[in-house]
Amino acid sequence: MSNKLAIVILAAGKGTRLKMDVPKPLAPLHNNTLVDYVIKEARDLGDLFLITGHQKELVEEHVISRHEGFTKDNFILQKEQLGTGHAVQTYFEGNAKSDEYDYTMIMCADTPLLTKSVLSELLEELNQGYDAVVATFNEETPFGYGRIVRGEKGFSIVEEKDATEEQRKITEVNSGLYVFKTSYLKKHLSGLSNDNKSGEFYLTDTVKEGLNVSAKIFSDKNPFMGVNDLFQLSVVERKLKNRNHRLLMMENGVRFIDPAHSYVYTENVGRGSVIYPNVQIDDKSVIGKNVTIEMGAIVRNSIIEDGAHIKANTYISDSHVHAEAKIGPMAQLRPGSTIGKGSKLGNFVEIKKSVIGEKTSISHLSYVGDAEIGNKVNIGCGFITCNYDGANKHKTVIGDGSFIGSDSQMIAPINIGKECYVASGSTINKDLKDGDFAIAREKQVTKEGMAKRFIKK
Ligand code: UD1
Ligand code: CA
Repeated sequence: MSNKLAIVILAAGKGTRLKMDVPKPLAPLHNNTLVDYVIKEARDLGDLFLITGHQKELVEEHVISRHEGFTKDNFILQKEQLGTGHAVQTYFEGNAKSDEYDYTMIMCADTPLLTKSVLSELLEELNQGYDAVVATFNEETPFGYGRIVRGEKGFSIVEEKDATEEQRKITEVNSGLYVFKTSYLKKHLSGLSNDNKSGEFYLTDTVKEGLNVSAKIFSDKNPFMGVNDLFQLSVVERKLKNRNHRLLMMENGVRFIDPAHSYVYTENVGRGSVIYPNVQIDDKSVIGKNVTIEMGAIVRNSIIEDGAHIKANTYISDSHVHAEAKIGPMAQLRPGSTIGKGSKLGNFVEIKKSVIGEKTSISHLSYVGDAEIGNKVNIGCGFITCNYDGANKHKTVIGDGSFIGSDSQMIAPINIGKECYVASGSTINKDLKDGDFAIAREKQVTKEGMAKRFIKK
């Protein structure tokens, strides 16, 4: 029934309690925003529409730029927030196509732990022949939630403010996620009143005892957890990564030394890989099999292939590390770096926008920027590409099998051929052809016995 389902995401709220400058749907979560998570989980099931209000331009701009297929037509403005029922009325008035969908799902922008499988379960329940299904769960401290008041002919939802003392003791609560037959929803929205303690039009009044509706209880309440303040935001972020760690361990065969203190958001980590504490890997990175990532390493939007070893406190962003390479400790791969198979970068080596070939070694204290370095190149300690002349960046090329002595600088643009030998301490500013030797340093002067003039007793 996917092409007949409209999914309406309520995102008009301001989120005052979050105490942030951005509207609630754009509160940051990992490297996305709150609303990105519900969009990602829901989008395969039907057509998405967002009800916007506070700072609607920001929300629209973000969603359109982040998610393919969204246009202005996917947003409906609710000028005044007169309640969840009013928000859905606004949707029907503001979207000419809304009647074409047989079913309408309503959810909130602030429940980023919801999964596609929960949404699918709700649709399955509706398929049992109901006009509406409400997702519910049990909450020992139900304060603030609408209570599910069950009677002989079904159930009704009573908001906290409107509930009696007895009703407030009920622990079964409304999650705020619903699916309706569109015709049923439209019919019951038209009869809503705001005669209640909040003076709002409640969506929850569209379901009532005596009607053909179901309250489906979910035993796991985690997917429904909402974000109203920065504390809840931190809890949700932790749950998000813990859920991913569990999946990586149980499904993929990834080993964590101490999962509580790792922060891995990508689902793409291969079998046999080992993650140490304080490792951060974002949701855009792809890690192969049998990769070791040591303490304190940070990996952003990068690919690390099979068998690579990322040592402690290494920072990698927008880069590609090929199989069996060893990086770090304390190395940095800045955007646009590719490290070839079996190559080795040691401590305090910084690479930027460069391609390093296979089995090449840059083991200590070096800066390599805008360079193309071949296979089996050996670079000593303290090597620098002088790539910037104050106005432009220039390229350094070093051919296969060359040996570059320690403390050398390459003044780019420069081209070093294959199997060249550059003596230690050289500042190279002229190209070398294949097989050339170069030495470029001051001749040494030695004065016998003169040291005592400088060494103070
Ligand atoms: C709502 C439910 C409550 C449920 C709870 C779950 C109603 C009347 N009550 O209460 O039964 O237990 O969610 O979290 O629906 N919004 C708009 N426009 C409006 C009003 C709200 O877009 O005019 C959006 C808000 O931004 C928010 C969502 O709808 O994302 C829920 O609204 P909120 O006022 O927070 O409802 P609750 O009081 O939490
Ligand atoms: Ca709420």
